[in-house]
Formats: sequence, C-alpha cells, structure tokens
Amino acid sequence: MKPIVLVLFVAAGAFAAPSVVLNEYSENELPRSNSLTERAFGLIDGGDVNIHILNLQAVLKDLSERDPRSQALAFGQTLGVLVDLATGIPGDSCASAALINAYAAGVKSGNFSGFRSVLYNFVHQLASNLKLIVKLASNPASVRFSTGPSGNCLGSGRSYQFEAAWDAILSSSSSSRSNNVGATITALSLPPVAQVLEAAGESTSHLLRAVASGYDASAAAASASKALLRAVERIQL
Ligand SMILES: *[C@@H]1O[C@H](CO)[C@@H](O)[C@H](O)[C@H]1NC(C)=O
Repeated sequence: MKPIVLVLFVAAGAFAAPSVVLNEYSENELPRSNSLTERAFGLIDGGDVNIHILNLQAVLKDLSERDPRSQALAFGQTLGVLVDLATGIPGDSCASAALINAYAAGVKSGNFSGFRSVLYNFVHQLASNLKLIVKLASNPASVRFSTGPSGNCLGSGRSYQFEAAWDAILSSSSSSRSNNVGATITALSLPPVAQVLEAAGESTSHLLRAVASGYDASAAAASASKALLRAVERIQL
C-alpha cells in the first residue's frame, strides 16, 4: 500500500514560513468517520475531489477533534474550502493571494494599515460566499454549472508568498482547483484570520451542522456571516 501523506500547515508565531506536519496513513486506514467536517465534505461530488483535497479533509477532521480553538479553525477552513469546491467551475485565488501578500508585506514593514482593509475584504467575501454552501446543500444543480468567486488579478492569484511551499506539495497536481484550495487554506491560516474564525466558531459549527443534516441552512449561514463580520470588526492587529 502506498502511504498517503497528510499535510498540515501550521502558521507559527506572528509570521513564519508555515511548518509542515506530516502524518502517514496507508490507503486502507485513511480516517473515515461521520465527524462534522467530514459530513459537510460529503456535499461535494466525490468525482471532483483529488488526493490533495482528500488529504486536507483528513487533516481538517483531525483538527476538528482537538481543542476548541483548533475546532473553530477547522470549521472555518472547511467552510472556506467548501466555497471553493461548491461550484462546478472553479473561481480564482485572487482574494486569498491578496490577503497573504498583504500580510507578508505588513510583517516585513511592521505597518499593517494596508492589511486591515484587505482583511475586511477577504472576510466579507467569505461571509457572503457562505450562501454558495447553502445552495450546494439544498440544490446542488443550482451551482454545478456556475463559476466560483473570482477577483480580477494578475495570474488569477496563483502566485503568492507561500507559493514555494505549496509548489512542493502540489507539484504532482495539475488541478487549478487544488491551487485555489491551497491559497484558501493558507489565507485562512494567517493568525488574524484564525482569530476571526475562532471568534465565529460557534456559528460556523452551527452552519456545518445545518448543511450536514440537510436542513435549510440559510438562517445558519446568515448568522455565521454576521459572526464573521463582527469578528473582523474587532480584530486587533
Ligand atoms: C503605513 O502605510 C500607509 C499606507 O498603507 C501609509 O499611509 C502610512 O503613512 C504608513 N505609516 C507609517 C508609520 O509608515
């Protein structure tokens, strides 16, 4: 059995090249369970999911079974990835790349005044894109032929500060979708974003529960959007 390598990015400290934690599972012991994040990922058409995304699902499941802070991160990241995977045609990585680059620039200069507005944009987009997950849960056909969230940026946001790290991981993948997901997860791991996700953890878990159980999730999505927006207003940089 070829080992399947799970990759977990941990944004360490204020800013560091993310460290990579590897867990190895053999193909027949890939963790399967009906955890909250796994059930939510069940909304995605399996034919669309490549090995990187499967790995990510396993990592997020692990994360979602740890302390409350890790759980909140896992819930928020699961939602972000579901937004990327909800539409039949992938969008681009512009918003994530802009956030990552602005954060890197802030760390370099010590001046985060430019970062704040980019952070607002990113969280506002995430909050408003939660409705794609609601559609995916209630009427998958309505998003199957639509295109994911797109910005308008050079190279569709494929190039960003963590590119070297992700290049190494995604080198075997030709899928632009993995590239999007990589940028999304990286952006959602930045410390200020992790704080936002932590503060919104209760609402995001309710949303995942609602979409996983097949109930109408629009109210839960609206609450999660509000919680994310409230959290980003309060963020201390
Ligand atoms: C920080 O950057 C902003 C532009 O993003 C600039 O207007 C401001 O003067 C800078 N502050 C300092 C202390 O350099």
